[in-house]
Amino acid sequence: MATNQPKWLDNAIFYEIYPQSFNDTNADGIGDFQGIIEKLDYIRELGCNALWINPCFASPFGDAGYDVSDYYSVAPRYGTNDDLKRLFEECHLRDMHVLLDLVPGHTSVEHKWFKESMKAERNPYTDRYVWTDSIWEEPQGMGCIRGISDRDGSCAVNFFSHQPALNYGFYKPELPWQQSMDAEGPKATLEELKNIMRFWLSMGCDGFRVDMAGSLVKHDEDGKGTIRLWQNVRAFLDEEFPSAAMVSEWGEPDKSLQGGFHMDFLLHFGPSHYNDLFRCEEPFFSSRGKGDASEFVKKYLENYEKSERKGLICIPSGNHDMDRLARSIHGDNLKIAFAFLLSMPGAPFIYYGDEIGMRYVEGLVSVEGGYSRTGSRSPMQWDDSVNAGFSTAPAEKLYIPQDNSKDRPTAEKQMADADSLYHEIRKLIGVRQSNKALQSKGEIQFVYAEKNACPLAYLRHEGEEKILVVINPAAREAEFACDFEPVETIYRFGGDMKLQQGKMTVAPQSALFIKVK
Ligand code: NOJ
Ligand code: CA
Repeated sequence: MATNQPKWLDNAIFYEIYPQSFNDTNADGIGDFQGIIEKLDYIRELGCNALWINPCFASPFGDAGYDVSDYYSVAPRYGTNDDLKRLFEECHLRDMHVLLDLVPGHTSVEHKWFKESMKAERNPYTDRYVWTDSIWEEPQGMGCIRGISDRDGSCAVNFFSHQPALNYGFYKPELPWQQSMDAEGPKATLEELKNIMRFWLSMGCDGFRVDMAGSLVKHDEDGKGTIRLWQNVRAFLDEEFPSAAMVSEWGEPDKSLQGGFHMDFLLHFGPSHYNDLFRCEEPFFSSRGKGDASEFVKKYLENYEKSERKGLICIPSGNHDMDRLARSIHGDNLKIAFAFLLSMPGAPFIYYGDEIGMRYVEGLVSVEGGYSRTGSRSPMQWDDSVNAGFSTAPAEKLYIPQDNSKDRPTAEKQMADADSLYHEIRKLIGVRQSNKALQSKGEIQFVYAEKNACPLAYLRHEGEEKILVVINPAAREAEFACDFEPVETIYRFGGDMKLQQGKMTVAPQSALFIKVK
């Protein structure tokens, strides 16, 4: 487990910024660091106190920046390294923290390391990536790049076929070309990773969201090698940057927390059942009330127990890889979904634009390796000025075409409307920030989470403070057995509840946070 736990994580509420699409200040159609700086007050006013910025490093952008070609320089389209440093400083002035996105598993094919490693002659980068020792031999189960180098070998890929896998070794090498974690090449890769982290942490970044953190060591089914690798990184951080925060894209908190991460994400793929809640044919949060939260709760509790009830599983409202929340959840139900997201343990992550109900833009041609993800990455809608205030570039120059429906939500409209989603989220954040039990580390106990039934009820508690959360997304009343004694309702959306003879009945489409005894 992580030895140092930055205090600010306890009540952190993250805002994820996809930098391309947030705010463009030099009219090139692409968001930039200055654009983020100019909107920090907006983010702060919403109540978020931390940022996760998607990769903003030099890249040919075949996977929107998850294909890094130089880890030490930002992509010129966003500004300079000094601009990013200024962004860190501006955040700190507002008591906000920033996580950069660290992509340790692969680089772009254009990275100079990869170009060197493709050469037939041995050089310091020969073992930087996972190569077989013959073009005719493919690395099993990994996909590969072959036939483009003088080097006689196939290079394993980590994600798209232009993202060669960096070499951290194999947990149990079986073939001659598979190196052990302790071989010189893998050790050098790991040291370089620490150099990269050192570089940005020294400049003022507060930590990292780590891309595909659980898959660095190959043929490591139980994650033991990868855990050991991250423990090594943890020891370095404890020594040099004890307050650095680490959040993993891993999806197995028992493993990631052992590796020294502070928090892990609940993922929208794999066994989490996260999609049952928001993104499937009958999501739990739809007003139809036909969905099921029970499998999600079962999995959540399994992970919660396995990670020593630390409650550090972060549930995002969405992200750059999945459909916009507003594609499947509508109207008041978005507010109810946020009542859930903002009352769960771990740090909540709000994907830019989700706070105003930005929609998934249908029918777009893929941009920068986005494919079906492109519709969730369209430029932020600020106001009713040209290009919704995102950029003054001609519309056809925008990074991704915008939602052009007449009634598209904008931050300005939402802020002017006291009943908007924006204001509900702001209110929810306020309630969370003034009640410790609702924050990252408060414990959770599910009170009612039955198969195909509403409501969902859970108790959050910390010390003496106990808060019962009852969420009913369905357009009909719902009830459950409740033997808590209500003291005070601290948040209510929709109608009130009735409590009679140990049975609580809650109104259709409602959410309640009740202090109880
Ligand atoms: C996960 C990132 O979130 C996604 O956007 C990216 O394409 C892959 N990892 C590969 O880095
Ligand atoms: Ca720009």
